[in-house]
Order: sequence, then structure tokens, then C-alpha cells
Amino acid sequence: MPPGEKNTLKRLFLSNCNLAGKHNVVDRISNILIEGEFIKSIGKEKHVADKYIDCSGYIVIPGMIDPHVHMRDLNQSNKEDWTSGSRAALKGGITTVLDMPNTNPPTTSLRNLKIKLDCASKSFVNYGFFLGVNLSNLADINVILESEYNHLIAGLKVFMGGSTGTSGKDLVSGADDLKKVFVLAEKYSKPVVVHCELQSELELWHEKEFDRKMKNHHLLRHRDCAIKGTDRAVKMALETGVKLYVAHVSTGEELDIIRRGKKEGKIFCEVTPHHLLLNLDSLDLNSNFGKVNPPIREESDCVALWEGISDGTIDAVGSDHAPHIEAEKCREYDYAPSGISGLDTALALLMNEVIKNRITMDRFLDLCSNNAASIFEITNRGQIKPGYFADLVIIDPSKESVLSAGEFESKAKFSPFDGHKLSGQIISVIINGEIGYSKGKFYNIKGKEINCG
Ligand code: DOR
Ligand code: ZN
Repeated sequence: MPPGEKNTLKRLFLSNCNLAGKHNVVDRISNILIEGEFIKSIGKEKHVADKYIDCSGYIVIPGMIDPHVHMRDLNQSNKEDWTSGSRAALKGGITTVLDMPNTNPPTTSLRNLKIKLDCASKSFVNYGFFLGVNLSNLADINVILESEYNHLIAGLKVFMGGSTGTSGKDLVSGADDLKKVFVLAEKYSKPVVVHCELQSELELWHEKEFDRKMKNHHLLRHRDCAIKGTDRAVKMALETGVKLYVAHVSTGEELDIIRRGKKEGKIFCEVTPHHLLLNLDSLDLNSNFGKVNPPIREESDCVALWEGISDGTIDAVGSDHAPHIEAEKCREYDYAPSGISGLDTALALLMNEVIKNRITMDRFLDLCSNNAASIFEITNRGQIKPGYFADLVIIDPSKESVLSAGEFESKAKFSPFDGHKLSGQIISVIINGEIGYSKGKFYNIKGKEINCG
């Protein structure tokens, strides 16, 4: 600052924060000084500020970066809009969301991206987007990535098989076609994010003589669909050297493929809280609330996913927030859309596992914020570090609660996790240096566009 000039930036001082886990700090119990949007310093010193928060007894972590969100809005604002969805994120400790392209209209052209961007400007949390790639819009993707909007794009999303919100022309599943997408991603140094259930396998299993009921969802979308798709995507990443992010891994076999492929340093993967924490034994198979693609599978898959968490094969947790209208979910199996409402719960569900000592604080921080920031090259977010955006979540680890879907901020107020007991409670959330949510109250703040790469 030039001499004589007054510092007009607002200062927020958090005292006695428990910075559990690795933050490269000298002391676990530290004070954090925030100046404007950024973390200014971390340490034992006290500072004069405009506002003070006493964090004694509280854990302070970076806001979650959720790399897998279907925020809807546009022509599906009855399912969710950026106001309701981003409030759910904020209250749930998610300060950055990466939005998926299978909206109506889809994020497949510059025109549609601009329409979405306009909608997202009401977001309470920070945001970026994935572009939907198919064989008919490769030129549109070039146009977007050559434009001033490049920095908003976290990666290119490919559906190898049909799911809720996709149509046949959106799919890319043959190896030669997939290669075209990977080559395009390479040109702009963007990762490819893949929904790996393979269309040809889905069709094969769809023909089998299983009763068309929720209890058979995991057979109608058999594990082979995901395994064969992941195998193809990993091979393509290894052949082209392009960064691959496998969304929502649901089987142990996929993890084995990813684990082997990871040695090259280009392959990353995600787990959702529902694939990690629910299985066919714990799920209510009489309800479509747990109908999701890929399906929730065997307990042995959960065990394999937990191994993937502890040995570092799994890089990130994504909520795969996919809200639908309750009446739609209550239709017969065949007519009910797939998807689970996850923004309100993702961080709390994982935090609960940390408090139960099932996962270390270090791994939790990697999975929920650090790794997503580095995979998608999001500038200055995902860590508690001087110079980084002050996106912080203040948690009381001693509080217990029961998850109540009826109280979600999301419009989709139902969940297969309804009634789950949780340890740890989010008290306040700071976003870009301002208090966005505290003790049940929302403050009128706006999220920002992220900067990728
Ligand atoms: O269950 C799902 N729901 N899987 C997807 O791939 C899409 C999502 C949605 O958008 O509803
Ligand atoms: Zn999804």
C-alpha cells in the first residue's frame, strides 16, 4: 500500500480456530485474519478487525469444493434453481460448485453457456461449469474455449451411456469417438470428466428378464456397464495422456482399473457419499429415493471404496446433487428419474465419518477441497493459506443431530439418508471473506466465478 493511503478493506478476525489436519501451520490452534476476500495471516498474533468470531472449541476447514452438481434451473427450475441450490450448498459448507451440463437447455454451446451464466449470477456460492461434449458440438466447444469464458470451464463432461437428462445424441461411447473428445480436451488443457456406464452394456442388461423394480436397479444397470466404461476411459487417458476424472465410482473393479492406471499421474476419480455409505442392505428398496445412476451396490463395494479412500486411489468426494420433484420419484420404478439430493448433506456426512475416526482429517481435507482445486486447477481456493480466498467452514464437533430431509434448503426435500444420526455441526460459513451463513441465518452475499487454469 502506498504510504499515507488508508486500508479500506474489511477485516474479519477468527480466534482460536482448531486447524485440524495439514495446513502447513505452526500451531494447530491459530487465529486467522481475513482482509477483504482473502486470508491475510494465520498465527498466534491478535489483530484489530471490523468483526470478530471466537472459534474456541470449533474446527475450521476450507469450504468444500463440490465437483459434481446438477443445479438445474433454466427450464427445470421447479426441480432446483441457483438460489435454492446454492443456499443448500452454503448451509452445507460447500463454497464452490462445479455445475454439470445436462440441463435444459444443456451447456453445449456458447449461447447456452451465456444463458446459464446469467442464471448462476444469483448464486450464494462460487461456481464454474462443465461443458457437455458430443460428436455434434466439437466446434462449439472450440468456440467456448477460445473465448473470454475459458476460465469458467472446469472440464469437458462425457456421458458414455444414457442417464436422466441425456438423450441418445449426447452420448459418446465408442473408442474412436471418445478419442476426438480427449484430443480436444488436450488442445485446451482441460480434464475430461466421464460418466462411465457404457451404453452398449446398458442396452444388453436392459433386455434381461429382471422385474422392472427398484430392487433390481443395480442389475438393470449392471456393474459390468460401469466397469467396462471405466476400463475404456482409462485406456483412452493412458493412450492420449489427457487428464481423466472418473465420476462417481461405484464398484471395486473400477477402483482396481483406476489404481493401476494412476501410476501415470493423469487419472483421478470421485466417490459420492451415497455410494460410499449406502448399500443394497441398508437402502430402502421399496422407494425410488435411492434410485441413482450408477446404482448403489453391494456392501463389498463399499468396503472397496473405503480402501480406495485410505490408500489414496479416490481423489475427491462429489455430492452428485441431482434434485427431482418428489412426485416424480414416487412414480413406478420405470418412470421415476434417477438422482439424489446431496448439497445439504455431503460435507456433514463425511465430517461425521471423521469424527467417528473412520477417515483421517488429512484425507477428508484432500477429498473435500484440496484435490478438487488442484485437479480442476481452481486458482487460490481449497486450502487455508495466506493469499487464498477466505472460504471457510466453522464446525462444532461436539454437536449431534439427526438428518432431516424436510429441512433441506434444496427444493428436493427427500433423501435416502433421512433420519441418519450425525456428529458434528456446521455453525458458520465464510465465503470470499464474508459471513454467508451463521447459526441458521443467511446473509446477503454473492458467490464469484471461479478461475480455472
Ligand atoms: O442419477 C443420476 N442423476 N445420474 C446421472 O447421471 C444424472 C443425474 C441427473 O441429472 O438427474
Ligand atoms: Zn451426475
